[in-house]
Amino acid sequence: MAIFLDTGNVQEVEKYMKMGVIRGVTTNPTILLKDGVKGGKEEIKEISIQIAKLIYPYPLSVEVTSNDYREMIVEAEEYSKWAENINVKITIHGPNGEMDNLVVIHELATKYKIQINATAMMSAQQCLLAAMSGATYVSLFGGRVNNMGYNCSLEIKKLRTVLDSLELKAKIIIGSTREILNVMEWLEAGADIVTVVPDILKGMIIHPYTKETVQMFLKDAAETNKRS
Ligand code: E4P
Repeated sequence: MAIFLDTGNVQEVEKYMKMGVIRGVTTNPTILLKDGVKGGKEEIKEISIQIAKLIYPYPLSVEVTSNDYREMIVEAEEYSKWAENINVKITIHGPNGEMDNLVVIHELATKYKIQINATAMMSAQQCLLAAMSGATYVSLFGGRVNNMGYNCSLEIKKLRTVLDSLELKAKIIIGSTREILNVMEWLEAGADIVTVVPDILKGMIIHPYTKETVQMFLKDAAETNKRS
């Protein structure tokens, strides 16, 4: 699975799909807002359907916009009907530590058979519980973890070991990627997926020394053509 794009920008998704370097897309309300979405649920629907179609059969994560128990269920049901490759993001708990979210995750996964991406997690232990509850994806926010002063790679290693030993099938997504070096580091630590904003992906591809080398090749190629 490896790399997902963390964006609500359809053009960026299209660009990297054409290169064959992404295996899914993640969004959240903050990303959508940053990418110019101001038209409420209708626009979220429109963009999600476009992205889901572009990346099919790869998965797209769309986050609920409320923390109300009933509304999360209703939104999840609605999103999952927009396209078959859409999974629904639910935060591990509410803004004040409300634990109903895990009930919602469990109910949606088991009763409604909707794929859930449990999100906004900052520790391996939160991810373990989300996986046990039935989430298909568990999203650990690596950059935020590192910013709190502990090493996300160690959380990933612990999580990988525990999920594997308990035979829990949830895929580990690491988001909140701040540096290019995080991508290989986190995959090596045991993540199934690292999700990155378009600028990070671009930075992974373009290298100044590669530029210089290609310039040398092209210049010398022109020289080899001098006699004709
Ligand atoms: C991933 O799925 C998250 O939505 C995202 O990476 C969060 O990143 P942030 O810490 O930049 O908000």
